[in-house]
Amino acid sequence: MENKQEQWTSKLGFILAAAGSAIGLGAIWKLPYVAGTSGGGAFFLIFILFTIFIGLPLLLAEFTIGRHTQKEAISAYKTLAPGTQWHWIGKLGVGTSFLLLSFYSVVGGWIVIYLFRSLTGGLRGMKAEQFGQLFDSTISNPTLVIFAHFIFMLMTVLVVQGGVQKGIERSSKFMMPALFLLFLLIVFRSVTLDGASEGIRFFLMPDISLLTGETILFALGQAFFSLSLGVSIMVTYSSYLNSQESLPKSATSIVGLTIFISILAGLAIFPAVFAYGIEPAEGPPLIFIVLPAVFSSIPLGEFFFVLFMVLLLFATLTSAFSLLEMVVASITKGDNKKRKKATLVTGFLIFLMGIPSALSYGPMSDLLILGNNFFDSLDYVVSNIMLPLGALLISLFVPYRVKKAVIYEELTKGSNMNKHIFNIWYFLVKYIIPVVIILVFLNVLGIFDLF
Ligand code: PFF
Repeated sequence: MENKQEQWTSKLGFILAAAGSAIGLGAIWKLPYVAGTSGGGAFFLIFILFTIFIGLPLLLAEFTIGRHTQKEAISAYKTLAPGTQWHWIGKLGVGTSFLLLSFYSVVGGWIVIYLFRSLTGGLRGMKAEQFGQLFDSTISNPTLVIFAHFIFMLMTVLVVQGGVQKGIERSSKFMMPALFLLFLLIVFRSVTLDGASEGIRFFLMPDISLLTGETILFALGQAFFSLSLGVSIMVTYSSYLNSQESLPKSATSIVGLTIFISILAGLAIFPAVFAYGIEPAEGPPLIFIVLPAVFSSIPLGEFFFVLFMVLLLFATLTSAFSLLEMVVASITKGDNKKRKKATLVTGFLIFLMGIPSALSYGPMSDLLILGNNFFDSLDYVVSNIMLPLGALLISLFVPYRVKKAVIYEELTKGSNMNKHIFNIWYFLVKYIIPVVIILVFLNVLGIFDLF
């Protein structure tokens, strides 16, 4: 007998869990530092355009597959294309989730460390220049980072063991609204600082002359990463959705929330950075070095830094849930009796896989692969190869393997999407998105130069 999968209890639960997957380190950590080094507002503008014209249609494509089949990703591809090799898209997604979570959790661990320190007054009285040193000594300390990575994975495992409704949905329903509220508080603090307007301008006023081929590439990769696309996570998540809900409405809400949080992240960080005369092009450590320094010198700063770390932890956890769920669902295939054990074993294996990444800034920093440490190399392969490859295959699978009438029915059920909009969506998925992804690939491989 086939197992009946668990379902989200409500549409809101689904939207918050999927937005929770999307909103994470991508929007709050990566986007500000990449924007900071690659043209500020111009980068942000291109990112938004990709998110709307490529991300949103792809998200809908993933939703169509999952909701129609009501099965986790691998089984979903098998159902729609029996006897073919297309199920490898699902397997690629499981592999990608496994690898991505292994280093994502290392950064999750850094957040746990900074949250602990800020809560216990460990950052008090430090001078602005000392934060850089503190960050370096933190991420190079092997015992500390492995322990923190373990704690982050443990939290993820405990929630995912609770299942779709009682674990993921319940925590997302609490964490996501808390995240929005905390963010609004922090943005308010940041934009009311003296000298904040320069930061707002840097972030929101695009200077198109700063765009390069590479910036455009990063913006596309960022759009995939930020919406959790190409991994088939959104296939698995939408398979837990009942068949009455409107897919276009849910997808639009999720994309809207992700863009909203990306704007809040920029508005929280850049005004503070500029108000304190710090370089926005600081790179990856931006939020761990610049923010504590900035917050340590403003009224109530310590309190706001704790808030920021809490919201960052929530955002990172809800993304981690989706990555672990993707792997677990491919094992349990809806059989909840297997969930606890499958989650524990998978979580432990991912923890082990993450150890070289955790050590990449310490004892293993000499191990270089094509000039990059293990962490950066893995991030590169996952973000620039596996995600776009998955996205490309999905954008081919939907129009070329699934009957148009089936897709049309799935997308218009319970929704007011009309034929005209459907056709535009179909055209984008069938012709535009694959071409854009292929061009981007060729560019990464150096075979084709965008500029
Ligand atoms: N969307 C998450 C973020 O922006 O942090 C990262 C992510 C989660 C990417 C899940 C891909 C994925 F499948």
